[in-house]
Amino acid sequence: MREDIHRWQAKYRRAGPIQPLAPDALLLRHTDLFVAGGIAFDIASGAGHSAVYLAQRGYQVVAFDCSSEGLRRAQQLAAQENTAIQAVALDLDRAQLPPDKANVLTCFRYLNRALFPAMEAAIRPGGLFIYKTFNVHHLKTSPRFNSKYVLQPGELASLMPNASVIDLSDGTTSGEIYSWLVARIA
Ligand SMILES: C[S@@+](CC[C@H](N)C(=O)[O-])C[C@H]1O[C@@H](n2cnc3c(N)ncnc32)[C@H](O)[C@@H]1O
Repeated sequence: MREDIHRWQAKYRRAGPIQPLAPDALLLRHTDLFVAGGIAFDIASGAGHSAVYLAQRGYQVVAFDCSSEGLRRAQQLAAQENTAIQAVALDLDRAQLPPDKANVLTCFRYLNRALFPAMEAAIRPGGLFIYKTFNVHHLKTSPRFNSKYVLQPGELASLMPNASVIDLSDGTTSGEIYSWLVARIA
């Protein structure tokens, strides 16, 4: 979606100074899982907080996003945190992920239902999938949010049916505006 890309480019262009690293609480809760190292993919990486966190944990990180401006900020954040990430500008509505496989794949606050099979295929056997985005409860406090981009209760598990669940919250708790899944891929 061309307009979406322009919107994200403008948003990142307008953003102020690079903020200190602030990884999502889900990553911090599962820090013990990030010990093996290897390759990590961060999908729709934006300003790169997950990507940079994983780089600090010793992974070779590739950050994918449609916004070159977002990725530029992600690389600045990496430099600020004395690490480095690789950035790949890619429209995930049109282009495919590269054929390489990751030990860890993260995706935060980006819902593209058609991408789930490709994300699963991009993870090595035994690798980790970490996903979190808004669910339907988010619409109660943010009614203008596009309802196409929220998960329904129970939907996240159905999008990744073969994964071995480590931590799942699937929109069944009223008031919890995020659904998330931490899982191992067989
Ligand atoms: C809400 S932000 C989330 C950024 C980051 N994952 C986070 O949680 O802070 C959504 C991101 O998805 C990216 N995005 C939207 N549509 C995309 C597409 N078709 N292909 C690749 N990235 C896309 C945007 O540029 C933006 O950085």
